[in-house]
Amino acid sequence: MVKILVAYYSRTDHTAHMAEEVVAGIAEADGAEVDCLPVGQVDAKGLGEYDGIILGSPTYYGSMAAEVKKLLDDSVCLHGKLTGRVGGAFTSSANIGGGNETAIMDLLKALLIHGMVVQGTAMGDHYGPVAIGDIDDRSRKECRKLGRNVASLASRLRG
Ligand SMILES: Cc1cc2nc3c(=O)[nH]c(=O)nc-3n(C[C@H](O)[C@H](O)[C@H](O)COP(=O)(O)O)c2cc1C
Repeated sequence: MVKILVAYYSRTDHTAHMAEEVVAGIAEADGAEVDCLPVGQVDAKGLGEYDGIILGSPTYYGSMAAEVKKLLDDSVCLHGKLTGRVGGAFTSSANIGGGNETAIMDLLKALLIHGMVVQGTAMGDHYGPVAIGDIDDRSRKECRKLGRNVASLASRLRG
């Protein structure tokens, strides 16, 4: 059974609500186990136990929150050891053009530098789910899709 981590930071719960829907999407994929934790409760040294890692952050100045960056910086202890695992990212921002896609790309860039595999989507939110403020029906579907896709790709890669 593949194991997926959803790690997020959220001050006003918008990103936390997205995390809940990503978890629901993972549950829709057969045979995946999931941990969903605020980044402050994630020990970077434990990231190696996951087949998939999905990061969620509010958009702060067009990028991720410092709390999420700290987890990524701490993850240098596993540099080279996450190659081939599956990654994904999601964000909530206040504005439609508020830098949400650059925030997602910053998250994905770090996962790619770890050697992780990232799947985009041809339809909908191409790089990862975006919510404007709190989650709505559209972003809920995108979050569930991300969860399903990461769990199913992780299962396929694990064989
Ligand atoms: C320090 C700070 C920086 C922010 N920067 C942006 C920004 O660049 N673009 C944007 O659209 N919203 C920005 N916001 C708004 C948050 O991204 C938005 O309120 C988000 O929904 C908060 O998510 P949360 O409820 O998970 O904390 C910023 C908020 C804070 C506190």
